[in-house]
Amino acid sequence: MQDQILAVKQAAASFEVQNEEQLEAYRLRFLSRNGEVGAMFKLMKDFQPDERKAAGQLMNEVKVFVEERFKSLEQVSHSNSATSTSSLDDPTLIVSPQARGGLHPLTTMLDEIKKIFFRLGFTVSDGPELEDDFHNFTALNFPPEHPARDEQDTFFVKKSEEKDELDLVLRTHTSPVQIRQMLKQEPPIRSIMPGRVYRNEAVTYKSYFLFHQVEGLYIDKGVSMAELKETLITFAKMMYGSSVKYRMRPSFFPFTEPSLEMDIWWEQAKGGGRWLEILGAGMVDPNVLKSVDLDPEIYSGFAFGMGIERSAMLHYGIDDIRLFYDNDLRFLSQFN
Ligand code: DAH
Repeated sequence: MQDQILAVKQAAASFEVQNEEQLEAYRLRFLSRNGEVGAMFKLMKDFQPDERKAAGQLMNEVKVFVEERFKSLEQVSHSNSATSTSSLDDPTLIVSPQARGGLHPLTTMLDEIKKIFFRLGFTVSDGPELEDDFHNFTALNFPPEHPARDEQDTFFVKKSEEKDELDLVLRTHTSPVQIRQMLKQEPPIRSIMPGRVYRNEAVTYKSYFLFHQVEGLYIDKGVSMAELKETLITFAKMMYGSSVKYRMRPSFFPFTEPSLEMDIWWEQAKGGGRWLEILGAGMVDPNVLKSVDLDPEIYSGFAFGMGIERSAMLHYGIDDIRLFYDNDLRFLSQFN
């Protein structure tokens, strides 16, 4: 009789379990309601009363053994199936490197500029890269014979194959978005307009046929030149540090009057330095306001425009503008 009890233990000990299926077979055979462990306890009635205590003890031992083995097999089998789907259980496994994306330096630069103007209460607007003559030139007070309209500078686009009209242009600056915004929104308008612009230029280390600008526009009643200067100075300090040295020079743009250009002093590491132009700006010309049906007697405003590439080249010490557009990972991965 005792042999029958030990046989259950023996069978459980030698039952092979390699996977979940065999584990379940083990459970069914020994531990389920009709399993061998349950059957073993039914032998109790066949023992003489004086043997029962010892038999009961032995049966309990066997039961505990079978259960313990089940628990340990269960653990092994779970971690086996886990390793087949993930490598987390073996920290020594070699994992192939995961490529991680990053921001393009021009995006990072633009984000910096946006952050500053958000703090000054500006919104962001945009417009199309394919513009018409009205928005890109005429409404901005460019005279018909202005050199910027020349084919040397501007990419003209044919509207249709049949007609030979060159009516559309790849925008040469972000200033046409000013016009679109004034036509779309009642003043007060306080917005920056970042985007890609195109010029028909020879490609060299310092010029490319496309680049990026950020335009700024503030239109309201009684906007003054003092506010323009304060805005630009605040921008320069936030962008280049509070001790930045700057100057403003009178300049000319068809769409502003008066106009100015702002330079900052760029200190060179090896000593010395030079003035660098960072933006053009001015008070919006009354003719521009009239072209979008705003009364210059009631409204005034200022505008400014700056290039992003130039700032990024200075900031990161990049000496060839073409690197921005090559999408060469050896270049791009240095900024992450
Ligand atoms: N549109 C000018 C350019 O392409 C930059 C500019 C100058 C924008 C003065 C302005 C401005 O809004 O007021 O070079």
